[in-house]
Amino acid sequence: MGIERTFSIIKPDATKRNITGKVIAKLEEGGLRVVASKRIHMSREQAEGFYSVHKDRPFFGELVEFMMSGPVVVQVLEGENAVLRNREIMGATNPAEAAPGTIRAEFAQSIGENSVHGSDAPETAKEEIAFFFKDEEIVG
Ligand code: CMP
Repeated sequence: MGIERTFSIIKPDATKRNITGKVIAKLEEGGLRVVASKRIHMSREQAEGFYSVHKDRPFFGELVEFMMSGPVVVQVLEGENAVLRNREIMGATNPAEAAPGTIRAEFAQSIGENSVHGSDAPETAKEEIAFFFKDEEIVG
């Protein structure tokens, strides 16, 4: 597969509990490298735009409010097969279904407050990275 990049968000439930370091440690221990990172407070426009693919879902309003409810850490991760690797390290969206040792099994509070987001495919990763980062902010 080769070296690839993916996009990651550490969500407000995790920043609120001061566990960003624990989340990043899981990513690094799993073989991924943080090549860009910033802590931001998402605007409504950013949250709605980022999650626009879910705009017709019943949980869209709740998702947007949650993502605006506190700071998040947006990151670009790099590594072998990074998109899939990140998804393995995060575990299933619903923490009740996440494999032991994954970020969501250990830290997530619910399907909505699930501590991390990760791109679902290489194409999505490119779009999501470009949504938050300029090329010169990625310093692998
Ligand atoms: P994420 O990977 O950030 O992508 C979309 C998010 O929607 C997902 O993680 C969950 O946090 C959220 N989500 C998915 N299903 C539900 C649900 N049933 N209720 C609330 N939030 C949800």
